Amino acid sequence: MAIKKHTKEAVAYHHVPREAWATRIGLVLAMAGNAIGLGNFLRFPVQCATNGGGAFMIPYFVALFLLGLPLMWIEWGIGRFGGKYGHGTTPGMFHYLWHHPLAKYLGAIGIAIPFCLIIYYTYIESWTLAYSVFSFTGKYFGIETHEQMTQFLSAYQGTVKNQYFNGFGTAYLFFLITFALNIWILSRGLTKGIEWLAKWAMPTLFIFGLILVVRVFTLGAPDPAHPENSVLNGLAFIWNPNFNALKDVKVWLAATGQVFFTLSVGFGAIQTYASYLKPKDDVVLSGLATTSANEFAEVILGGSIAIPVAVAFFGLQETQAVAAGGSFNLGFFAMPIIFQKLPLGQFFGTIWFLLLFIAGITSSVAMAQPLMAFLQEEFKIERKTAAVILGALAFFLTQPVIFFLKNGFLDEMDFWIGTFGLVLFAIVEVILFVWVFGADKAWREISQGRDIKIPRFFYYIIKYVTLGYLLILLGVWFFQSGVDVIFMRNVKPENYTYIWFARFLMTGVLVLILIFVRIAWQQKHKIRQIVP
Ligand code: TRP
Repeated sequence: MAIKKHTKEAVAYHHVPREAWATRIGLVLAMAGNAIGLGNFLRFPVQCATNGGGAFMIPYFVALFLLGLPLMWIEWGIGRFGGKYGHGTTPGMFHYLWHHPLAKYLGAIGIAIPFCLIIYYTYIESWTLAYSVFSFTGKYFGIETHEQMTQFLSAYQGTVKNQYFNGFGTAYLFFLITFALNIWILSRGLTKGIEWLAKWAMPTLFIFGLILVVRVFTLGAPDPAHPENSVLNGLAFIWNPNFNALKDVKVWLAATGQVFFTLSVGFGAIQTYASYLKPKDDVVLSGLATTSANEFAEVILGGSIAIPVAVAFFGLQETQAVAAGGSFNLGFFAMPIIFQKLPLGQFFGTIWFLLLFIAGITSSVAMAQPLMAFLQEEFKIERKTAAVILGALAFFLTQPVIFFLKNGFLDEMDFWIGTFGLVLFAIVEVILFVWVFGADKAWREISQGRDIKIPRFFYYIIKYVTLGYLLILLGVWFFQSGVDVIFMRNVKPENYTYIWFARFLMTGVLVLILIFVRIAWQQKHKIRQIVP
C-alpha cells in the first residue's frame, strides 16, 4: 500500500504538468519584456555618453554578436532542454547537463542572481511610477536647475529633508504599490499574469517610445543662439564612429557589460522563460526576434530620446557632464527640466516615466520567476503561496536598500550582481553546455525545431569565442578594478559597515538558495529510492 502511494507520488513528481506559453507572440513579447528594461532607457544612454558616444557603439556591436546573441541562443537552448525534464531553473537544468552532484549547486547562482537583482530593481522601478505621477500633476514644475532637481530626488529618497519632501513616506508608498503589483502579476501565473502583462505592456511601450522619438526629432535646435545644440548633433555624437577609443579597455568592458545587462543574459532569467517552451518549439528565430526587439528599443528608442534631447537643450559638454554623474542623472534630473521647456511637457513627462515603469515591471516579474518556478517545481508549493513567500522574502530584503541608499548599499549590490555575477554565471553555463554537455549536442539542442538556420560560423563562435571572450573579460576586469572594489579602495570609511552588510546579505541569499537546493534534492532522492 505504502509503496503504491509512493509510486504515485514519484510518478507525479516527474510528470507534473508544467505551465506553457499560450501563444508564440505572447512568448516573444514576454521575452522582450524581460530584456527591455530600465537598462535600455537609462543605463544605455549614460554608458554611451560617458564612453565616447560613437566610440562605444563599436565594441557594443562586437559584444552583441560575439557574446550577446550566442548567449541568448545558449540560454534559450538550456531553458527548453531543462523544461523537458520538468525544471524551470538552473539547478535542475545543470543537473541534466552534467551528471555530477556539484552541478545543481552551480545552478543555485542562477536563482540567487535574479533574486538579488529584484531586491533593488523594484525600488528604482517605483521611482519611475512616482515621477510619472509627479509629471502628470506638475509637482516638479518650477524646478529649473540640475542642482535643485538633485535635491528633489534626494528628498524623495529620504536622504535629505527639504521643502519638496520630508522623509521617504512618498517613496515608500510608491514602492509598496509597485511591489504589490509585481506580486499580484506573479501570483496569476505564466499566461494569465506575465503573458497577459506583456501583451498589452509591450505595444504600449513601443507606442510611447515612438511618440517621444518623433517629439525629439522635430525639436531641431531649440536655442537660436546655439545652433550647434541640436538633436542632429546629439545623434551624430552617438553614431559617428571613433576608432581611437578601441584602444581603451574601459570602453570594451562598459560596452560588454551593457550588452549583458540589456539582454538579461547571464542571470538565469531567460532560461526560466524558455523552459515553458515545448520541446519542439523553435528557439532560434524567437531568440533572434527577442534580441532584435531589445536592440530596437535600446539603440533606436533609447538612443534617440535622452541623449539627443539633452544635447539639444544643454549642449554636448553639459550632457556628458550630467551623464558622468551616474545612471539616473539623465533620466531623473535632465529630462524633467527639459519637459518644462516643451509645450505639453506634463504629457511628455508622464509618458516618458510611464514608459520606464512599463519597461521596469516587465523585467522585474522576469527576475522573480526563477525563484517562483523553483518553489513550485522543486518543493511542490502552490503558485499563490510561492508568490507570497517570494514577496515576503524580497520585501524584507529590500528594506536595507531603501534605508541605506545614501550609504552605497544599492551600488554595492549592483556591482556584484550586475557587473561581476553575470559574467561569472555566463562562464559557468557556457562551460557546462558547450564543453561538458558537448558542443555538437549543444548545437543540436539549439537547432531542434528551428524555424531558421543559424549560420555555421556561430558554431565556432559559441564553441571558442564566447567563452574566451568571457574569460578575458573577467581577467582584465579583475586586474583593472576588481582588486580596488574587493578592498573597497573607493569607499568612504563611514560606509564600510554598510558595504559589508550588503555583501553579507547577498552571500546570505546564495547560501539560502544552496540550502534549498540541497533539501529539494534530498527529497527527490528519497522518492527515487522507493521507486528506482
Ligand atoms: N535587461 C533588463 C534591463 O535592460 C535588466 C535585467 C538584467 C533583467 N537582468 C535581468 C531583467 C534578468 C530580467 C531578468 O533593464
